[in-house]
Amino acid sequence: MRVPLLDLSEQYRALAAPIRAEIDAVLASQRFILGPQVEAFEKAICDYLNAPHAVGVSSGTDALLAVLMALEIGPGDAVITTAYSFFATGGCIARVGATPLFVDIDPKSFNLSPIALEWYIDNRCKRDSRGQLRDSAGRRIRAIIPVHLFGLCCEMDAIHALSEQWGLEVIEDAAQAIGAEYLMTHMGPRKAGTMGEVGCFSFYPSKNLGAAGDAGLVVCRSEELSKKLRSVRQHGMEPRYYHNFIGGNFRLDEIQAAILRVKLSYLDTWSAARRAAADFYREQFTRCGLTNRIALPAEPYRDRGLTNHHTYYQFVIATDKRDALREHLAQGEIETAIYYPLGLHEQKCFSYLGYKKGDLPETERAARKTVALPIYPEISREAQHYVVEMIAEFFR
Ligand SMILES: Cc1ncc(COP(=O)(O)O)c(C=O)c1O
Repeated sequence: MRVPLLDLSEQYRALAAPIRAEIDAVLASQRFILGPQVEAFEKAICDYLNAPHAVGVSSGTDALLAVLMALEIGPGDAVITTAYSFFATGGCIARVGATPLFVDIDPKSFNLSPIALEWYIDNRCKRDSRGQLRDSAGRRIRAIIPVHLFGLCCEMDAIHALSEQWGLEVIEDAAQAIGAEYLMTHMGPRKAGTMGEVGCFSFYPSKNLGAAGDAGLVVCRSEELSKKLRSVRQHGMEPRYYHNFIGGNFRLDEIQAAILRVKLSYLDTWSAARRAAADFYREQFTRCGLTNRIALPAEPYRDRGLTNHHTYYQFVIATDKRDALREHLAQGEIETAIYYPLGLHEQKCFSYLGYKKGDLPETERAARKTVALPIYPEISREAQHYVVEMIAEFFR
């Protein structure tokens, strides 16, 4: 039986008629970029996330880049982030001329560890005479980018407390976690991307809310920042052909916005279906006595009264025999993936930062041991059963 990592064809078949109608309407309107569809989608996302401002952009990468540009983070600045993420998180910091400072992860959630973050601030950074936090090379630390990996929110209470203590912006990379919730001590339940000053989303087609191409979005609390982001997404232009600062072409297409708006109303149903699939994997792995062979995804917020305590963008397990297991599954036509085979600090392009092997041990361990299993809202229990049986066979 062939089991793909992701198969959204059934989802598309169910929504083909309304999606095509929206595409036709955009074609008929001949308005292709930053028009009423983008505005309507921004409004719908604000309602869904309970966020004051949303700015549609061209991708998740461009969302991060636009935010860093709008906050005027650049040469001489540094930004703290996790070492275990998709490249864009670290890449964007370097692209604006700032220095990424990579911090280790929690081994269970794979998210930025608040303990490692606090240790890093206490032991590797110092406060200057003006009270600003500096790294060991004297760069001014401006922000923290926590990444809500695989559909699970970071421990935002602890990250917030540190950001407030040190005067740092929190830029949430919520690319993998649209709709995921976290119970903040002072604010109550909040959705990923709305817990810091600003949150970034990706609608890459494989994401829980996926476009038919590249698309992204920024949400923020401050109206001023939202205005600046609207300008940054058009080369820092305001009014037309007057450029106050340097931005880029980060514009969102009308067709993508129209498709995303159709799909948004199904997002919570899809996330619930992903969670049900995750529950089924969990039951089956337990039934087969495999829980001492593989580490299942952590669910630290399950009992906190949140619906979307995890949105299972990925179902990632960990085992010492990861590579041999993958090979076995591939022979059984089960597709898997490794997110990610290297920590960001180990990437060749970041060798100039001077990290050494062993600097971020939990990230390095996760990069060696984790594997993502097939998960998507419409995955059949039969397919999941087969995946579990194949894993059980491997460990017998
Ligand atoms: C954590 C994370 N950040 C940023 C991005 C960048 O998003 P995009 O691929 O839409 O540029 C992605 C997605 O691929 C991601 O997973």
